[in-house]
Amino acid sequence: MKTKICFLAVTALFLSASAGAQGQTKPIPEIVKKDGRYALMVDGAPYLILGAQCHNSSAWPAMLPKVWRAIENLHANTLEIPVYWEQFEPEPGKYDTSAVDTIIDQAREHKARLVLLWFATWKNGSSHYIPLWAKRQPEKFPRIVGKNGHIVDSPSPHSTAALQADLSAFSAFMRHLKQKDAGRTVIMVQVENEPGTWGSVRDYSPAAEKLFAGPVPQELLKALGTTAPAGATWAAAFGPNADEYFHAWSVARFVGQVAAAGKKEYPLPMYANAALRDPISPGPANTYESGGPTDNVLGIWKAAAPALDVLAPDIYQNDSARYRKALELYARPDNPLLVPETGGRAGYPRLCFAALGRGAIGWSPFGLDYTSYSTEPQGMPRMAEEALAPIVLNYQMLAPIMREAARLNFEGKLQAAAEEQGQARQTLDFGNWKAVVTFGAGGRNNSTNGNPTPIGRALVAKLGENEFLVTAAYGKIDFTPATGAQRDFLRVEEGSYENGAFKPIRIWNGDETDYGGLSFWAAPQALRVLLGTY
Ligand code: DGJ
Repeated sequence: MKTKICFLAVTALFLSASAGAQGQTKPIPEIVKKDGRYALMVDGAPYLILGAQCHNSSAWPAMLPKVWRAIENLHANTLEIPVYWEQFEPEPGKYDTSAVDTIIDQAREHKARLVLLWFATWKNGSSHYIPLWAKRQPEKFPRIVGKNGHIVDSPSPHSTAALQADLSAFSAFMRHLKQKDAGRTVIMVQVENEPGTWGSVRDYSPAAEKLFAGPVPQELLKALGTTAPAGATWAAAFGPNADEYFHAWSVARFVGQVAAAGKKEYPLPMYANAALRDPISPGPANTYESGGPTDNVLGIWKAAAPALDVLAPDIYQNDSARYRKALELYARPDNPLLVPETGGRAGYPRLCFAALGRGAIGWSPFGLDYTSYSTEPQGMPRMAEEALAPIVLNYQMLAPIMREAARLNFEGKLQAAAEEQGQARQTLDFGNWKAVVTFGAGGRNNSTNGNPTPIGRALVAKLGENEFLVTAAYGKIDFTPATGAQRDFLRVEEGSYENGAFKPIRIWNGDETDYGGLSFWAAPQALRVLLGTY
């Protein structure tokens, strides 16, 4: 990977040199890995998605003013927005790029990046976004047959015609993106939306039954490292999990082929998003969306769909134990952590920092625009200012240090914390220094009771031996040296980064530093802290 990164740097240099000369191409965004950590590279440097996803029916030109107003109010740097297959290919083989072109042009005007969501064969387990002409051909675009022979409102992953149709449309879409977007406004593409099936663990149609009775593909047995002999059937190899694993393989295979075809045209980073099963006490497969990239089948998805760079959790779990467990399950050595959807309610925003603490490359609440829809009880209760404020605070805190935070996280130098009830004090260990975060403390108040509700968040990154970048809300941060000596604030500067250089606007001293640490309330403040001892 290191070699790849050096090569990348050279390529980036070459590209920026030629961009200077010709006034055009920037490097294609990509996800890179080093020492087990990931970065999303945008314009040749690590980038952190401070995202917002609009509502499902908001990606029409007439709706966009209501979307951009939300992006601006939120201080988000990236809009996640659907592209509808039904709109893109109104007649077979005839492509309408007007909607996506408008979105890209307007994103440039708003200086925002885009993650485009390919709503096609799967949308939340159903197939409601396939074009009208496809809906009128159920023999080519069949739904799943349930165990009792009833038709389930979910596309069968076993139709070659459906695969070819989706794959051709997606290829045309990516081909168009490549030609339209030399400026790299689009930084990632989501392939399908929450693929899988609600209401049946798998397809029981005759075609699926035949495959299910056949052998498990050898590559899957190998990837999972099972002891099943070559040629073993699904039931023999996987026992009670056979139905679910068969469906996961079938869906992932389909999505992976669509992604691979698109990447062949234009290799942007791609991901699939998961409707999670309960991360702590999952029930049986018929209680969640079977076949999607749920935590128990990530290995199957990795083997079946290598063109996908990320398998990403849509986290709507309302209690933080489940939220944190979901982060843990998806931040794997073979999978970058990206939260492409999450709830917008008051308890969620601080957990953006829990995601950052696990190396997330992006975080994005769902349902943020002014089109007057609400996904209550899952999403934003309403677009009221006080409901948005905690997300705005996150992005105001992170935007001025976004590139540095992404880079430092990639380099393993960043730690972050989100407050938990009963855990006001959290320690971030940097070796020669410990950063001690006390949520709820501030000014001359050094209480360890925490905030009345857990809303605190903190980020600390090591810039040098005795130098740190710090931002936080609703808490105090102090440092203790490993030597046991006493900490001295040599210099504390408030400021932000401009083109990679820290620009201080003032020095904190006196009351701001003399009472047991650095205090943060609801103001977005980034500090560069130089420490000494005495
Ligand atoms: C998850 C889906 O991926 C979104 O498109 C949307 O339907 C939300 N659920 C609604 O809560």
